Amino acid sequence: MRPRPDRLERLPEQYFSGLLARVAAATAEHGEEVVDLGRGNPDVPPPPHVVEALVASAREPTALVHGYAPFRGLPALKEAIAARYRDVYGVDLDPGREVAVVPGSKTALIEVALVLAERGDTILLPDPGYPDYTSAVALAGAQEVRVALDPAAGWGPDLGAAPRDAAVLYLNYPSNPCAACVPDGAFAEAVAWAHETGAAVLHDFAYGDLVFDGRRPRSFLATPGAKDVGVELFSMSKSYGMAGWRLGFVVGNAEIVARVNLLSDHVRAGVFAPVQEAAVAALTGPQETVAERRDLYERRRDRVRAALGSHLRCEGSFYVWLELPPNVTADALLLERRVALAPGEGFGARGAGFARLSLATADDLLDEGVARLAPVFASAYPGLR
Ligand SMILES: Cc1ncc(COP(=O)(O)O)c(C=O)c1O
Repeated sequence: MRPRPDRLERLPEQYFSGLLARVAAATAEHGEEVVDLGRGNPDVPPPPHVVEALVASAREPTALVHGYAPFRGLPALKEAIAARYRDVYGVDLDPGREVAVVPGSKTALIEVALVLAERGDTILLPDPGYPDYTSAVALAGAQEVRVALDPAAGWGPDLGAAPRDAAVLYLNYPSNPCAACVPDGAFAEAVAWAHETGAAVLHDFAYGDLVFDGRRPRSFLATPGAKDVGVELFSMSKSYGMAGWRLGFVVGNAEIVARVNLLSDHVRAGVFAPVQEAAVAALTGPQETVAERRDLYERRRDRVRAALGSHLRCEGSFYVWLELPPNVTADALLLERRVALAPGEGFGARGAGFARLSLATADDLLDEGVARLAPVFASAYPGLR
């Protein structure tokens, strides 16, 4: 047999499918129900008018709806995302040149690596950071170098120590898993660094609208000069609970957007038109549910803090990044407390000693899970509550 390319061998284990398998095995072995606080899967459905728009569109018996959708997305959808960027994030986008429609940001974060990095190039990833970035590097045949996120600096990236010959720098705020909003000055520093080094920046804004304690969403593209060096990924998954519908955008730098569009022309044939029509309804219709969803996660954050300790830092996203007491691991909590958390080391070496708890969990389950965890934290950090 001919030798196969090593592309797939370079891929890490898919972190979340591995985690699901461990939770299933623990449940099967011990019988007792495991409370799964490991997965970040939105538990609140999209607003009803968005579902209605999907259904109404799907009922149209036309080729425009059921045939191949336009390769590069419906113009109305690109105008809707541009209007949102203008009105909510204070960013001007040209819908024709600066917006690419993609089936979710998970796909896009791989495509950006493919269109920007040559085999062997360096891609800089946050540590801790979302595990799928590592998959993007592997599929591009690039080389991964981690940039430390510094807890003392609000989990901002330490670019001083980063190699200056990188092809792309990945950033993500509000961050998964650290639940941190972007520290002041971090975007401006990244833009200046990219101008100096020639690297591109990809900012993953998947949790952009989920910011707590009265903060306002902050787009990377609102930073002066950002559009010259980078793009942002916006997702319909978290702001509107449309994770299963698979829709997102790559917005910003026109040259990078054109490259993603070109790659998409070769590997995809558009996104199902009713999904795009429903996204137009989501982006242009009433926006109350975005705030309601954010407030729900914020209330759940407060429940976790009340049970586990007011020291827990969580500024946005739908996660809490827990520093584990000494000698406690996420695996031990799964086996001994029957609570699944996402182990921190899966997000990078600097995640060791931490675990990620998901707030995308119904209130009763969340309460049950944190009640099981509380004694562990109470004995390790007495007096913190
Ligand atoms: C940081 C981050 N980026 C991207 C994604 C993928 O989102 P999408 O549903 O748009 O593919 C996720 C999903 O959990 C995420 O946590």
